[in-house]
Parts: sequence; C-alpha cells; structure tokens
Amino acid sequence: MKKRVLLTGGAGYIGSHTAVELLDKGYNVIIYDNLSNSSKIAIERVEKITGKNIKFYKADILDTEFLKKVLIDEKIDVVIHFAALKAVGESVKNPLKYYHNNLTGTLSLLKAMEDVGCKNIIFSSSATVYGDPEVTPITEDVPKGFCTNPYGWSKSFMEQIMTDLHTANPDFKVVLLRYFNPIGAHKSGLIGEDPQGIPSNLLPYISQVAVGELEYVHIFGDDYKTHDGTGVRDYIHVVDLARGHVKAVENLEKLNGVEIINLATGKGYSVLDVIKSFEEVIGKKIPYKIEKRRAGDIDKSFADASKAKKVLGWQAQYDIKDMCEDAWRWQKMNPRGYEREEKI
Ligand code: NAD
Ligand code: UFG
Repeated sequence: MKKRVLLTGGAGYIGSHTAVELLDKGYNVIIYDNLSNSSKIAIERVEKITGKNIKFYKADILDTEFLKKVLIDEKIDVVIHFAALKAVGESVKNPLKYYHNNLTGTLSLLKAMEDVGCKNIIFSSSATVYGDPEVTPITEDVPKGFCTNPYGWSKSFMEQIMTDLHTANPDFKVVLLRYFNPIGAHKSGLIGEDPQGIPSNLLPYISQVAVGELEYVHIFGDDYKTHDGTGVRDYIHVVDLARGHVKAVENLEKLNGVEIINLATGKGYSVLDVIKSFEEVIGKKIPYKIEKRRAGDIDKSFADASKAKKVLGWQAQYDIKDMCEDAWRWQKMNPRGYEREEKI
C-alpha cells in the first residue's frame, strides 16, 4: 500500500509541485492549507495535470484538534510540513506574526502528530539556517549560523524543536530538507510561483520585468566577493526540489532519526548570470540598474549536494536555462498569477 501523505501548505508554490510528483508516483495526497498565501486554483491545476483528485482541507495548522481529526480520518503515514509564512522583509516588520504562525503552528502540528501516533515528518527548511557561512560549498555539517531575520530564525528554531522531539521520542523520524533557491515552474505552465504584490525574490521579479509588469530589475549590489560582484546563489528547479521530497518519502525507513539534507544543484549563479540566461530564453534584453546592497544579503551561497545523492539517490536534473524557460512559460500563461486571472 502506498503511503498516505499530508501536505501542510500544499496549495503553495513548492507544495503544489510536490503534490504533482507524489500523485504521479501513486501516493495518496491530502492537502491542508489555510490559503493565506495561495489559491485553491493551484489545487485544481494539480488535479488537471495529474488527472487525479486531491482531498483538500482549508484549515489552519494552529488548530491542533482539527489536525488530529484529519491525521486520524485520513490515516496519514507521513506529513510534509510546508506551511509557513516566508516573506523575509515582512518578518522583520512583524516578528510576532511570523513566530506565531511558524513556531506555534509547528508546535501545534507536532503535538497533534504525537497525540495520534503519526511519527514521520519531512520539514521544509532553508539554506538561510547556515547564516553567512565561511566556506562554500556548504555541507550539512557546517554549523547553523546567525540568521539576519525572524523568518530565518523561525526555520532554525523549528529544526531544533523537531530534533529535541526526536531525542525525547526516538520513534519520531525527522527529515530536515534545507532548500537553496527554488525557482522555475511545472513544464505545463499551469502551476508556478505566484507572489502577492511586488516580488521580493529575484526570479519572479525578472519575469515580471520581462512581461512588462515592472520597469527594470534592481540589482542589489555589485561589490560582493563574487566573479562579477553580484550575489551568487544555488538556484534549483522547483520540480527537482519536489522530486527530492518524493525520494525522502520513499527512503524514510532507511533514514536516521534526524536527517539533514541539502536540496540544491551544487552550482552557484550570480544575479547577472541569471539575467543573462533569462535574456537568452526570451530573446530580448532585460533592463536593470545596479543599486545598493539589500540589508541581510550575503555574498554567496551554494551547496555541496552530494549527501542527497548518497542518501536519497536524488540529484537535480534541470539547469538554469530550464529554470528560466519554465518560469517564463508560467509567467506568460498566467501574467497575473492565479487569483487575478480568475477575476478577469
Ligand atoms: P508558499 O507561501 O507558496 O506556501 C506556503 C503555504 O503555507 C501557503 O499555501 C500558505 O497558504 C500556507 N500556510 C501558511 N501558514 C499556514 C497556516 N498557519 N496554516 C495552514 N496553511 C498555512 O511558500 P513556498 O515557497 O511554497 O514555501 C514552502 C515552504 O518552503 C515554506 O515553509 C518556506 O519557508 C520553505 N522555503 C521556501 C523557500 C523559497 O524560496 N520558496 C526557500 C526555502 C524554504
Ligand atoms: N536580488 C536582486 N534584486 C532583486 C531580488 C534579489 O539583486 O530584486 C539578488 C539578491 O541580492 C541575491 C539574489 O538576487 O543576491 C537572490 O535573492 P532572492 O531574494 O531571490 O533570494 P535569497 O537568496 O535572498 O533568499 C531566498 C529566500 C529565502 C531563503 C533563502 C535561502 O527568499 O526565504 O533564499 O534559502 F531563506
């Protein structure tokens, strides 16, 4: 019998792509999301891509009693915990909102899981927990660092909470997936990243400049210690990332009690490299201006991705050109994302 997998935050960007990959492999997918940063249309699109139905609960992870009911009624074997607020800038302005949603929400989920005896959790962590590491590529044994914002700290604390839970209750299996920079979209162009308002991440910003919604890309600094002075990141195609989750579900039995795994390509690209790749894909220039550094940004972040290959048998398949092509297809087909398209 294929496992029954609950995706908290499964209507979101990474959750919806993971739902597609799990359904394609025959897993039973149940989505639990309050739609605070997503749309039900994403779930309908996942159903369209896969030809399968998804059981969806519009609910909050802060509701421990309801979570318990869903875990029992749906006979959940594994939880993939995507649900979180993720806007770095907003977390600086409203730290309590972020700590409440992300930390209290995670405590609520873990309590529900403990109470009903559901003991497998795969967690959406982030390269942000490394802070500003002294060495690259970053391996999983590089100690966690100093985060520059409450969002980052919430990820770091959540990792610690799950690790402590495993120590107290070794039956709990915890997989901490540290994502680097997910970009791109499903090849169908039906699902993708749908930021609210003006995007704060690079790729959605470039896409909106390319489609004419925004005027030019603001490059935050060209005096970093990198090959061209602009910030370097390890961009990973969201479909590759989604498949990493499937591998984590498949390999759960053989993993250690708490397993930390980087999901990344192992290659670093600068802001200018990404703009160049995007220009090649769309066949026209992307206007940009060099501006001052954004507070909290680091020079470079890219991973050693060999542990994922060794432990999960997973490695990224798509390159930066695929990522730009697929982001562009999604942007063209859905210039205003899900919700606003619905209202047109
Ligand atoms: P997203 O905002 O698209 O998805 C998160 C989902 O969680 C949304 O659908 C939102 O409605 C839901 N949610 C939030 N709070 C909730 C609550 N209290 N109850 C129920 N649902 C709730 O974000 P994403 O990019 O898909 O990210 C998924 C996870 O991966 C997040 O935990 C994020 O922190 C983490 N992550 C993302 C990135 C990235 O760059 N996108 C990088 C590293 C880690
Ligand atoms: N950048 C620009 N202009 C923009 C946006 C970004 O020049 O308009 C630059 C940044 O300075 C950085 C690079 O592009 O050098 C990537 O920036 P993103 O905002 O796309 O991504 P970050 O690496 O800053 O942060 C992302 C997620 C965080 C997560 C982190 C590590 O947004 O949530 O990756 O996983 F914590």
